[in-house]
Amino acid sequence: MRIWSKALHGGCLLAAMGIGMGAAAQTVAATPPMGWNSWNFFAGKVTDKDIRNTADLLVSTGMRDAGYVYVNIDDTWEGKRDAHGRIQSNEKFPDMKALADYVHSKGLKLGIYSSPGPQTCARFEGSLGHEEQDAQTYADWGVDYLKYDLCSYRSAVMVAQAPNDMPAQYKLMREAYEKMHQAILKTGRPMVYSLCQYGWDSVWDWGPSVGANLWRTTDDISANFDRMSLNGRSQAGLAKFAAPGHWNDPDMLEVGNGKLTHDENVTHMTLWAMLAAPLIAGNNLTQMTPDIGSILMNKDVIAIDQDALGKQGDRVYAEGPVEIWAKPLKDGATAIAIFNFGEAVTEMRGIRLHLKEMGLLKTVKARDVWAAKDLGTIDDDWKTPVPRHGVVLLVVKR
Ligand code: GAL
Repeated sequence: MRIWSKALHGGCLLAAMGIGMGAAAQTVAATPPMGWNSWNFFAGKVTDKDIRNTADLLVSTGMRDAGYVYVNIDDTWEGKRDAHGRIQSNEKFPDMKALADYVHSKGLKLGIYSSPGPQTCARFEGSLGHEEQDAQTYADWGVDYLKYDLCSYRSAVMVAQAPNDMPAQYKLMREAYEKMHQAILKTGRPMVYSLCQYGWDSVWDWGPSVGANLWRTTDDISANFDRMSLNGRSQAGLAKFAAPGHWNDPDMLEVGNGKLTHDENVTHMTLWAMLAAPLIAGNNLTQMTPDIGSILMNKDVIAIDQDALGKQGDRVYAEGPVEIWAKPLKDGATAIAIFNFGEAVTEMRGIRLHLKEMGLLKTVKARDVWAAKDLGTIDDDWKTPVPRHGVVLLVVKR
């Protein structure tokens, strides 16, 4: 509620709902955005061909139909500006409009990336001083999603203009995000607006007021269990800041990347679903194994993430490496995840489910989501082995 009243107070409700000037009413990111982004696997090597291949594979693997509709080009697409200051794509992306048309022809949407600074994090051209022009260029190309990454804005503007004055630096940062928000609105094209400034200055508190549909809450994820679980676990306490149209973003998925084991990938997917986090896959779809496909496309897990109630889950109990998280769902059910972040299997000795703290009765009807198995009636004393770096995910009903 706090978020909505804040958005209203700031006169930004239309923007928060993604309603552009003159555009038909349309809710952007009513549920956490789902799609794919080039950075986690391709990084600076991504090309037009990779994006087209990915678009094809999102369709043929069933990913699109499972909900992954945004195809997001991250950093390194940017070329120089022309004589009129209009941003050009570089030689890796010969024709951005044609690429957008191709992506749209597959029933997908296109995302792009920039920075409020003079340069992006990979030192390509940023949007500083060209915000309206860039937003209009993206709209002309047919872009549906913008990730806006702080990068050099910090040193070139915040620190340069307000050395040793953090409140003034943060004000400059918020103004930069609001500036691009207004520029997007002016185009009249609905675009998902994704803030990337690593969670600084409690972005969850002001993200909605600058029109953000999602905001990164952490530093960069990487394809290892420690970093992934740190990003996910540090979302405890942030649930109250998420709502339809506005989501906490612990960063894009690494499912299928690096050396994550099956259980680690399952934990990653479960944690993000419990967090109502954006599900932006980051793997190379040309190499996706059936195991990874079945994790990314588990319909019941995706349904937890995308639940229309739009409530982020939170940690209910922690005992050493075991953590129990709960997420209320629209039909009155509750998703319960029992995580084991430890190095050995646990039998949950002495650990209860804490149903009462979730507002539930002493006994509930439970389904094991990953096992796709009904468990019948269980009570607070129910125990299960949880593998090393693994999780057991239940959906329970009265
Ligand atoms: C980082 C950002 C990454 C990626 C990268 C591109 O700042 O967190 O997700 O976008 O920049 O240079």
